[in-house]
Amino acid sequence: MRTLTRTPFVKGTVTVPGDKSISHRAVMFGALAQGDTTIHGFLKGADCLSTIDCFRRMGIEIEETDDLITVHGKGLHGLKESVEILDVGNSGTTTRLISGILAGQNFTSVLSGDASLNTRPMKRIISPLTMMGADIRSLKENDCAPLLIKGHPLKAIHYNSPVASAQVKSCILLAGLYADGETSVTEPALSRDHTERMLRSFGADVRSEGTTCTLVPGKALHGKHIEIPGDISSAAYFIVAGLITPNSEIEIRNVGINETRAGILKVCESMGGDIRYKNRREAGGEPVADLIVKSSDLQGTVIEGDIIPTLIDELPVIALMACFADGKTIIRDAHELRVKESDRIEIVSRNLKAMGADIIPTEDGFIINSRQDPGFFPVLHGARIECALDHRIAMTFAIAGINADEETVITDSDCVDVSYPEFFGQLDSLCL
Ligand code: S3P
Repeated sequence: MRTLTRTPFVKGTVTVPGDKSISHRAVMFGALAQGDTTIHGFLKGADCLSTIDCFRRMGIEIEETDDLITVHGKGLHGLKESVEILDVGNSGTTTRLISGILAGQNFTSVLSGDASLNTRPMKRIISPLTMMGADIRSLKENDCAPLLIKGHPLKAIHYNSPVASAQVKSCILLAGLYADGETSVTEPALSRDHTERMLRSFGADVRSEGTTCTLVPGKALHGKHIEIPGDISSAAYFIVAGLITPNSEIEIRNVGINETRAGILKVCESMGGDIRYKNRREAGGEPVADLIVKSSDLQGTVIEGDIIPTLIDELPVIALMACFADGKTIIRDAHELRVKESDRIEIVSRNLKAMGADIIPTEDGFIINSRQDPGFFPVLHGARIECALDHRIAMTFAIAGINADEETVITDSDCVDVSYPEFFGQLDSLCL
């Protein structure tokens, strides 16, 4: 449990931890590569540790020191059957990406996770994998995990995905490594492209054109060194804290600003946020920068369409930011929020309302009216926040809590460990 109270400002410097999506992929692709992969900046959050655990159970030796992970890859056909169920914890990325890999093995696997994970929709991967000839079943016949996967050779497909989802796209491309021809996926809008970038850097033949991505099998993956950039989804909490907290200026170092992830920066800028970039560079084949963020007078905006997949995980904290902007903010086309670690449309609306915000949940987003009177800061008041064990809800409402009157109590705050174990320590260091 954590209790937060208003801070007069946030000031200082933080370095956000490694990117969660990229950390998962580095371990997975390292396991399927020939030779060693060394990973610097790996996120040791619970989700990525679930990925490590699954690959260890399938016979991959993975060494951990304070700042380096070494994966002793065994090649595309080097995994072995796990004697136990593969425990994917809270991690949708582990579940969906590993399923693609397991579908093409010559052994059987069972994947299961925690209560939240086992209610998340898996039909989105069961359908395309079944089209590829995979034998994948939901053990409770509810299209959720636990999943039973009997691996065997796969057929190549072209899949028109109904959702813009990097997890679905990556699942199919990884299954494509074991297919009898070119496998491609077309998405309705481009989702994060870390799989394509990293598979290519391991030596795979991956081609991208518009929203279609094609994997041509037959090339071995080769182990390599990977620098993981900081996670923009983790930086998001401090970006919003810097913008909405009065008299603030913070530097957020080592933030991955890949276009397919950086929608929040575009939105902040369009709302009038003062964000400056320093030291633009590359790490692990991804663009990176340090960000200077200052308190800003923000205006409401409309967030919809193709930008949504590029900021999907940041929408809870963007909804909070909208409460501090002048006028109305409309967020639509974000139906996917309903099937994340929690129903984030419902839970964000309920908790922000409890703090006094004017927010209306819609089927696929929110309508937020700011209560800002000219010259005054908007008034949120403290509340008891239930986050349904959803890490992004806990962090969003911590930032709300330092900008609200009275006390905000976050009951299940330990869930931040899923993606950001250092979050509360870093937040404390920025507050008075
Ligand atoms: C992720 C993709 C997104 C995102 C999740 C991580 C990934 O999910 O919400 O936190 O690493 O591929 P979807 O692919 O379901 O949109």
